[in-house]
Formats: sequence, structure tokens, C-alpha cells
Amino acid sequence: MKPGNQTSSVSEFLLLGLSEQPGQQPLLFGIFLSMYLVTVVGNAVIILAIGSDPHLHTPMYFFLANFSLTDLCLSSTTVPRMLVNIHVCRKTITYAGCLSQIHFFLWFIGLDVFLLAVMAYDRLVAICYPLHYNLVMSPRCCFLLVVMSFALAHSHSLTHTVLLAQLSFCSDNIIPHFFCELLPLLKLSCSNTYANQCVLTYWGGALTILIPSLIIISYVRIVAAIVKVPSASGKWKAFSTCSSHLSAVCLFYMSAIGVYFVPSTADSTGKDRVAAVMYAVVTPMLNPFIYSLRNRDMKRALGRLLSGRALQSS
Ligand SMILES: *[C@@H]1O[C@H](CO)[C@@H](O)[C@H](O)[C@H]1NC(C)=O
Repeated sequence: MKPGNQTSSVSEFLLLGLSEQPGQQPLLFGIFLSMYLVTVVGNAVIILAIGSDPHLHTPMYFFLANFSLTDLCLSSTTVPRMLVNIHVCRKTITYAGCLSQIHFFLWFIGLDVFLLAVMAYDRLVAICYPLHYNLVMSPRCCFLLVVMSFALAHSHSLTHTVLLAQLSFCSDNIIPHFFCELLPLLKLSCSNTYANQCVLTYWGGALTILIPSLIIISYVRIVAAIVKVPSASGKWKAFSTCSSHLSAVCLFYMSAIGVYFVPSTADSTGKDRVAAVMYAVVTPMLNPFIYSLRNRDMKRALGRLLSGRALQSS
């Protein structure tokens, strides 16, 4: 049922990877394998620590566990494929493989965006309306917020995937990137990409302008509320519950904004690839550290988890 299959004469794409020099491949393989392992272990430990500590069964940490899971999946859509391609010295990816990679990549990156906004809302309610917190952030409401993030992110990626499947690819099948990305693929197509560009503009605008604005507005109100707290220790306590979320927001947007959704100029593939490494590989790897190093509750839960493990294995 894929309309693209009838028209496309290209059945495979060539992913050029990060470097075309054979000498650099073992180094790249080593670096990306280590980064991937750190990402998987780091995020899995965060999810386990939150799940195993009843003190952390609060909305903020449930969202965080979802965020870690999303990061883990995000990394898994691109890095393992790239490692396999380096390992077997083959650069091809099938048409279907390429489309599904784009689908899942866009889904998880969109989910990251929505979950960061949900977490900002959670902090807003906790700090500005503490008395209503339990009412507003009921388990039902948290669940709905997560499901809505899933659905919105999925409709974004599905729209792009369906539109991509309509495009034909005639002769050019070389993607100067290390995974199938939307923009390089749109450039390769020999059909009219007007509809894709429209979706890119509107959804891209929502994800890079609207949602960050909502996060900024939340933080303006949070800061205004914190300034009114009389004691310095109270101020610090209120702020410390936001600091790790704020760091994650900064890290995510600094690496993603202006690179992914904003159309790139002709000669910027090198820059694009470095930026993609940042938001597809490095950010998901760093998030667990941001959360665990800056957060006392998280550190305590990690300590308990790790010592529990040590006791069981000895
Ligand atoms: C994601 O969030 C929901 C709702 O808060 C929660 O029930 C669920 O356990 C979370 N998922 C993970 C992996 O922690």
C-alpha cells in the first residue's frame, strides 16, 4: 500500500556516514559504540532507580523516566544502524528502512520536545500553585499528558512519513549523513516537495517556536514566584527542583534548534552532521548525568539501586 513504491526507481539509499576515510572508521566505531553503551546504561539505570524507589513515585520523576526511555529509543533509531554499517563496510539502507528510521527518529525527537514542555508545566504547577499540585497532577492527568505527548509526536512523524512515501526518487540516492534524515532526503527527491515543506514549516514552527515559548513563559512565572519567596534557603530549595529540568531544556534546544527544522544552506553538510551528532547522540547520552548529578533524591535512589545490586550479586 505504499504509493512511493510504484513510482520510486531507487530501492536503496547510500548513507555516507560521518567520514569517508577508511582509516577513521575504527575510531568512529569505537567512539560511537562507547557513547551508545553509556546512553543505554545511563538511561536504563535512571528508569530502574525511579521505578525501584517509592520516594520517586511522583509526577516529576514519572515524566523523567518517560524522558529517559525516549532518549534511549532516540539513540537506538540511529546509532546501532550506523555501527553495523561501519562494521560490515556497507553503506546501503533500503527504502523502507530509511522511511522507518525517519518515522521513529521524528517520533522520539518530537516526544522529547513535548515531554520537556510537560515537565515545565509540572514545575509551574508545583511552584506557583503548590496547594493545587496533587489535584492538578493526579495520576490520571499525568497519564493523559504522557499519552497526549505520544499522540502529538506520532501524528507529526506520521504526517512526514506518509508525505515522504508519496515522493519519487529518481537517480540520486546518496545521503551525505550518518542516518536517514528528512532534509537530505527531501533534497534528493525528484518530485515536488511543496507539501512536505509546508508540514515542515508549520510543525517545525510549533516544535521550535511555540513549545519553547510555552517553556519560557512557564519559567518566567516560576522565577517570578521564586523571587517572592522570603528566605534564601526557600528560594534555593524551590529553584533546585527546576535546575535539572532547566539544564535538560538548554542542552536539548541548544543542539537542536536552528539545525533540524530550519532549512540549511547548500554547503553546510559538515555542520549539519556535527549538529546531528549533538542532538541525536550526545544529548540523549548526557541527560541521565544532568539528572543524577544535580539532584540529591536521584543520587540517593541510584545509591540504593547500585548497593542493592551489589548485595544480590555477592
Ligand atoms: C510514564 O509516565 C506514566 C504517567 O505518569 C507512568 O505511569 C509511567 O510509569 C511512566 N513510564 C516509565 C517508563 O516510567
